[in-house]
Amino acid sequence: MHSGCQHEIEDLSNSSPQSTGAMQITGSNGIVHNFDINAQSCNRNRSSSQIDIQDDSCCSIKDRPLPIFLKFEDIEFKVKMSKATPGNPVKAVMSKVASHTNTEQDNYKQILKGITGSIGPGEILALMGPSGSGKTTLLKVIGGRLRENVKGNVTYNDVPYSPALKRRIGFVTQDDVLYPQLTVEETLIFAAFLRLPGSMSRKQKYERVEVILKELGLERCRKTRVGGGFISGISGGERKRTSIGYEILVDPSLLLLDEPTSGLDSTSATKLIQILRENAKLGRTIVTTIHQPSSKVFHMFDKILLLSEGHPMYYGKARESMSYFTSLRFIPDIAMNPAEFLLDLATGQVNDITAPDDIATPKGTSEYERAVIRYVQHRYKIELESKEKEANHRSSGKVPEHLRLAIQVKKDWTISWWDQFLILFKRTYRERWRDYFDMLRIIQSLGVAALLGLLWWKSSYATEAHLRDQVGCYLCKPNVAVHFILCYIS
Ligand SMILES: Nc1ncnc2c1ncn2[C@@H]1O[C@H](COP(=O)(O)OP(=O)(O)OP(=O)(O)O)[C@@H](O)[C@H]1O
Ligand SMILES: [Mg+2]
Repeated sequence: MHSGCQHEIEDLSNSSPQSTGAMQITGSNGIVHNFDINAQSCNRNRSSSQIDIQDDSCCSIKDRPLPIFLKFEDIEFKVKMSKATPGNPVKAVMSKVASHTNTEQDNYKQILKGITGSIGPGEILALMGPSGSGKTTLLKVIGGRLRENVKGNVTYNDVPYSPALKRRIGFVTQDDVLYPQLTVEETLIFAAFLRLPGSMSRKQKYERVEVILKELGLERCRKTRVGGGFISGISGGERKRTSIGYEILVDPSLLLLDEPTSGLDSTSATKLIQILRENAKLGRTIVTTIHQPSSKVFHMFDKILLLSEGHPMYYGKARESMSYFTSLRFIPDIAMNPAEFLLDLATGQVNDITAPDDIATPKGTSEYERAVIRYVQHRYKIELESKEKEANHRSSGKVPEHLRLAIQVKKDWTISWWDQFLILFKRTYRERWRDYFDMLRIIQSLGVAALLGLLWWKSSYATEAHLRDQVGCYLCKPNVAVHFILCYIS
């Protein structure tokens, strides 16, 4: 069983930085990836200590994304647990002072406990594990979104994280952050005008949106509102694809996705992973978390990292996972989806699985599940971890120098402050305008106005009681108006 980083990187390019070259990478999946490295991307001024790379080709839409070889080793992450504030304010102040003066021991919760792995361009790594196992946390660490209290090394082309990387990493969060009132096409067009380089013409930006719409199969719903909440809109699968489109618009080299298939039926999930596969083929490095993929989807992944309570349990090729566990004498009693089998092992629920006899704890006891988890974690340390680390060390330093340099260069996509303001203003105006003039809201407002009108319809001013009634009307109207204004604003 071999699980290591098997990227044998062979730099076939001419050593001259000015020339165009090619790089051949033998991925762990046995596929040989060829990358053409455009000379412009790697032009550097050797006489100057400052890196001066004409990065146009690296971020050029026409060319492939800059290849990123991601490695992470012994990743640990802990969070500081804030104690519940005592009800007594004096005690609360004392506790705060104590924590500031460090007289009280800080209480930390360990979330990730030594995770190692690697992934190269053209490959998809799936992070699997039960809920709370640390998948999202690891994804955030890899994406540079969590930096405090993180131990271990994460490198991109053998270079640690730097702010320049932000623009090469696309992060699709679990909850889509889209504007419900904008159509799919508008969402992508506004994103294109905001996020693509100012050097690109309007026509090129529109063309880029067209390519994305086509690539992600969003042409049919391009004029449909995104929707959400009480607003009807596109389907869940289309929404996920729009979120992915929003990120791949700027051609990221490393695409991170948090549960892109959650809430999708198996056909939509398969279609989405198929799209990711196509994207990986363009030379992107893709890492995704996934809950319970179908066996078809499972086999679309190149590598799997199985987590349980922050510990790794398996890391390696997806297609070799079953044979690895068979070698440990975990054998399914019935035909099982491999993903289901792995998750059963990660939770220690091995009712339909024959477990090895080495686990001394008697079967059927409450301790047995924990014993299974500990056993698999222990086997991982012995069988896989050392091999993976060894392979990582063997391949370190082999990433071509121009890739190491290119990754430290900020991709230029900025437009002026004023242009950004105008685009954001236009986007917000369109979004709000449609929201305010939503037919349902207009009918609601007219209905309440008619109801209030009827209550005071033809009321008289004759007596003091009637006058008090009128005062009530004048008090009620502003209250209702403020209520509606607040509703609109919210
Ligand atoms: N800021 C935090 N403070 C305290 N605990 C945290 C914090 N962030 C994460 N955790 C805990 O870390 C564990 C892992 O969280 P994470 O979101 O990575 O899990 P997950 O594997 O993505 O779960 P799910 O599949 O449900 O999304 C959870 O038990 C969570 O409660
Ligand atoms: Mg999660």
